[in-house]
Amino acid sequence: MHSIADHLKFFRQFLRSPKMVGSVIPTSQIVIDHLLAAVDWSATRVFVEYGPGMGTFTRPILDRLGPDARLIAIDTCRDFIDHLGDAIADPRLRLVHGSAADIESILAEEAGGLPADYVISGLPFSTLPPGVGDGIMAATERALAPGGALLIYQYSTFVLPLLRRCFTNIRYRRLWRNVPPCFVFVARKG
Ligand SMILES: C[S@@+](CC[C@H](N)C(=O)[O-])C[C@H]1O[C@@H](n2cnc3c(N)ncnc32)[C@H](O)[C@@H]1O
Repeated sequence: MHSIADHLKFFRQFLRSPKMVGSVIPTSQIVIDHLLAAVDWSATRVFVEYGPGMGTFTRPILDRLGPDARLIAIDTCRDFIDHLGDAIADPRLRLVHGSAADIESILAEEAGGLPADYVISGLPFSTLPPGVGDGIMAATERALAPGGALLIYQYSTFVLPLLRRCFTNIRYRRLWRNVPPCFVFVARKG
């Protein structure tokens, strides 16, 4: 749960980089609970989070993650990474200031080359610079373990053609209970 100060910090980052942050408020509990229910936590060794922002998903993921697993959270915004480093002390969490496009080299460094069992993405695909979303999608497919899954939450279906270019097993639905209604996607490798 975020404080008012956290919401203001997030909003300030949105004003600085609207296209990179892509949303004025952090994601809601409804979306968090729905997406994380798709995860087989007992079989998860490496979990990757793209665009953690203020840690909306980071804490709930750590609450569910096994003691020997690791969470690698990657964000292009240095302020978000610094905030998370100050706010969360957990040896399972690796914070990386960088781009999701570099997931393969980041896994080589942070997970000893192990593939990702799950990647969750909070990236604003519809406002990323042209080509960046496609590059991230292809790199993510390569970085996932067979049977691994990419979990995405978005406020439109913009990401669907990008997903279909890299994955064949895709499920998605709209969460009407969320305000505004949010699309959640689960794309499985293999
Ligand atoms: C909509 S915010 C999501 C924040 C948080 N996960 C949530 O759900 O409230 C998008 C986040 O993606 C980050 N971001 C944008 N492009 C990125 C990229 N190429 N790689 C990693 N993070 C990126 C932004 O800095 C921002 O933290």
